[in-house]
Amino acid sequence: MNEVYHIPAMLKETIEGLAIKPDGVYVDVTFGGGGHSRAILEAIDNSQCTIDNSQRAGESSVQKGKLFSFDQDEDALRNAIDDPRWTFVHSNFRYLKNWMDYYGVEQIDGLLADLGVSFHHFDCPERGFSFRYSAPLDMRMNQTAKRTAADIVNSYSEEELARLFWLYGEMKNGRSIARNICAKRAQAPILRTEELIAAALKLSAISYQPSDGIESRWSLGNTGSPEELGIPTNAKKDLAKLFQALRIEVNDEMGALREMLVAARDLLKPGGRIAVLTYHSLEDRLVKNFFRSGNLEGTIEKDFYGNALTPFDVIEKGRTASDDEVERNPRSRSAKLRVAETLTMHNAQCTMHKGLMRFGTN
Ligand SMILES: C[S@@+](CC[C@H](N)C(=O)[O-])C[C@H]1O[C@@H](n2cnc3c(N)ncnc32)[C@H](O)[C@@H]1O
Repeated sequence: MNEVYHIPAMLKETIEGLAIKPDGVYVDVTFGGGGHSRAILEAIDNSQCTIDNSQRAGESSVQKGKLFSFDQDEDALRNAIDDPRWTFVHSNFRYLKNWMDYYGVEQIDGLLADLGVSFHHFDCPERGFSFRYSAPLDMRMNQTAKRTAADIVNSYSEEELARLFWLYGEMKNGRSIARNICAKRAQAPILRTEELIAAALKLSAISYQPSDGIESRWSLGNTGSPEELGIPTNAKKDLAKLFQALRIEVNDEMGALREMLVAARDLLKPGGRIAVLTYHSLEDRLVKNFFRSGNLEGTIEKDFYGNALTPFDVIEKGRTASDDEVERNPRSRSAKLRVAETLTMHNAQCTMHKGLMRFGTN
C-alpha cells in the first residue's frame, strides 16, 4: 500500500515542548502513523548519548526510557515500531489510568495527545469519514465499536441532531440540516455518505439541484474531488462541519478527552509535561481551560492570599504551524499546540512565597 498513513503536525515544536528526559516514561495517546512516537523514542535515545553525570560507576547503562503508545484503531498497528522500549496499547485513551496500572506505571514524565483522526481515516473511502467518497456512514475509529454514524443519523431526534451540529460543528444552519435529514429518513433510512449529503443539502439554504446533482453520479460508484462529484463549492464547508460533528459524536471524542486529561494530570510527575495538539475550537477550549485551572470546569481555585491554585505552568498557549509547514502539509493549518508542566514543589513554594510577599506589602 502506497498510502501515506499520516504526516505529523508540528513535530519539532511538540518534541521540544515535551522536554524529553533520557530515562523518562512517556505516553503518546494517539499513535496513528507513529511519527510523533518515533521522534519521542529518538529523543530518549539522543539524550541517552550525552554523558549522564548522575550515573554512578558500575551502574548499568541499560535504557530506562519507555514509551507507551495508544490507538483505538487497529489499523495503526501497521506502523508498529520494532523497539524494546515501545509498547502499543490498542485501546481508547480514556482508559489511560487503567492501562498504566496494568503495566505497573505509577507516574509518567510526559504525555502527548495529537487529537482527532489521521490522514488514513480521511483517505480510506470505506471508513466513511470523508464526504469525498461514496461509502457506508460509519466513522468509527474503533472498528469494533457498536455505534456508527448511520445509527446516530437515523435514531437521534431532530432536536438532538440540531444540538449536535451546533455543538460539535458550530453550524449556524444545523437546525435546518437536522430537519432535512429527518424528512429524508422518514422515507428511507440514510445509510451512506451520499444519502446524507443529498439529505443535508437538498432542502437547505444551499441551492442544490438533485436532478443534475450528486446522487446519480455517486450511484455510478464515482469517487473524487468535490468538484468532480458535483458538490457545490459553497456547500463544502458545511459538509466538512457536518461530517466533523458526526465523527466527534460517534467516537465520543469530547468525553474521552475529558477523562484522559484528568488521568494525565494525576499521572504526571512534578515537572512532567503534557503536550496536546487540538484541531477544532471546542477541544481547544477544553484543553486551554484545563491547563489554566487544572480541572474540567475551568474554575480557578484561589488560596487564602488570592493566588491561583493550579497544578500547571502553561508553557505553550496555542502555537500554530509555521507558514512553511502549512504549505508542505495543508492539514496542519488548524493544529494548535498547547503544553503545560506540572508544578514542582519548588515552583509551588515560589508561588506561595510570592503570595506571602504580596500579603505582607498590602
Ligand atoms: C491525528 S492522528 C495522530 C497522528 C500521530 N501523531 C502521528 O504522528 O502519526 C490521531 C490518532 O489517534 C487515534 N485516536 C483518536 N482518538 C483516540 C482515542 N480516544 N483513543 C485512542 N486513540 C485515539 C486515531 O485513531 C488516530 O490514529
